Amino acid sequence: MNNAHPALDEHASASFRSTLGNFCSGVTVVTALGDDGLFGFTCQAFSSLSLDPPQIVLCVSRASTTWPAISRLRRFCINVLSESQQQLSDRFSRSGTDKFAGVRWNYSPGGNPLLAGASAWIECEINTEYPGGDHLIVVADVRWLDAGPAERPLVYHRGRYTALRDSNPA
Ligand SMILES: Cc1cc2nc3c(=O)[nH]c(=O)nc-3n(C[C@H](O)[C@H](O)[C@H](O)COP(=O)(O)O)c2cc1C
Repeated sequence: MNNAHPALDEHASASFRSTLGNFCSGVTVVTALGDDGLFGFTCQAFSSLSLDPPQIVLCVSRASTTWPAISRLRRFCINVLSESQQQLSDRFSRSGTDKFAGVRWNYSPGGNPLLAGASAWIECEINTEYPGGDHLIVVADVRWLDAGPAERPLVYHRGRYTALRDSNPA
């Protein structure tokens, strides 16, 4: 048995989550459309990676039941959620539910769902998936992207949604 990474006990795992939760981020929903339906999941672990070539990175849980379908399709859209879209974030985090029921969306240039009201979208094609502990590190090439009117972002911090306060009002 490989003991290089012994399983974290409950306390260590809670401590990892609460400490790392101090690093705030925006929230995205990753979407895709295939012959067998619509796919989507909420993803906070998203970042710009490379400008030339244009690439992004996502960290996806190996427990995700949606990712294998998106991985087979190769293409997906990142929807950057705006401040008012907390309910969408919650909806797309519930495994085994009809996540798209009642959700308004349009087609991206590559035929994937663009969620209405998202502040930006980035359409991607998977380049490489690397192992990353209990997650996968997904590097994807950016194919198309656009941003809407300057919406305030939805922010996730210490396990809660929050919003940005304008420290330099015009
Ligand atoms: C605010 C928030 C951020 C999340 N960030 C991630 C993430 O970065 N990576 C990930 O794999 N899951 C993340 N999740 C959990 C997934 O959304 C959730 O496990 C997934 O939707 C489960 O559904 P599935 O089984 O259909 O994949 C996040 C959930 C929430 C509420």
